[in-house]
Amino acid sequence: MRRKIVAGNWKMNNSLNRGIELATEINKKVRKQEENDVLVILAPPYIHLSDLSRIVDKDAISIAAQNCASEPKGAYTGEISAKMIKSTGAEYIIIGHSERRQYFHETGEILKKKLVLTLENSLTPIFCIGEQLNEREAGNHFDIIKKQLEEALFDLPTNWMGKVILAYEPVWAIGTGVTASAAQAQEMHKYIRNTIAGKFGQEVADNISILYGGSCKPSNAKELFANDDVDGGLIGGAALNADDFFAIINSF
Ligand code: 13P
Repeated sequence: MRRKIVAGNWKMNNSLNRGIELATEINKKVRKQEENDVLVILAPPYIHLSDLSRIVDKDAISIAAQNCASEPKGAYTGEISAKMIKSTGAEYIIIGHSERRQYFHETGEILKKKLVLTLENSLTPIFCIGEQLNEREAGNHFDIIKKQLEEALFDLPTNWMGKVILAYEPVWAIGTGVTASAAQAQEMHKYIRNTIAGKFGQEVADNISILYGGSCKPSNAKELFANDDVDGGLIGGAALNADDFFAIINSF
């Protein structure tokens, strides 16, 4: 079902104590709202997952991992499997963030394996796509996004695709303070939805939530979320402050 979603990606920030403090603050604010049809997700570092899963109200906040291993188990020192993430109480996994693609060389093939492991473990993937600045400047942004969707998602069975959340994060907008304009976001989100419709059918496309990420903050969230095909946000920097994050949640 297409939902309004605000997810906070904490990236590699916050000690465990600070994470617990921040999640507690956010939980208090979100819980107080009588009617809240926004799905709020926190994606802290791995070491926070089980503590946060225990302290937040399940009906107010859900927990996501930022990544998972591309193998199910075994001798992969330092890796964390989707099954292990499931055992912490987390319900979502961010897959294919541009920082994973760029710094850890995650290819479409690798991301496809991670998506399958996520879905096999009854977790929901938040699958990220996004073009680099030079790709947009060259006018290749639609082709790049199509390729990212095709290589990782197009082999999924339709019933699995129906469970995926997408996040469009133009790389040039991440952590730069430069946000895509509302028109640029809507244009790309519509393109993404049409591409999904072309492969998986209109019903799947209509029901999929597509989040925007990249310097989304209280001052621009309203304008971004007002677009038909923008179903919420994947928030980096502004998710590290409870007031800012809560203001974004209230921007629909
Ligand atoms: P910023 O909101 O800090 O630009 O980060 C966006 C992001 O990468 C979320 O995953």
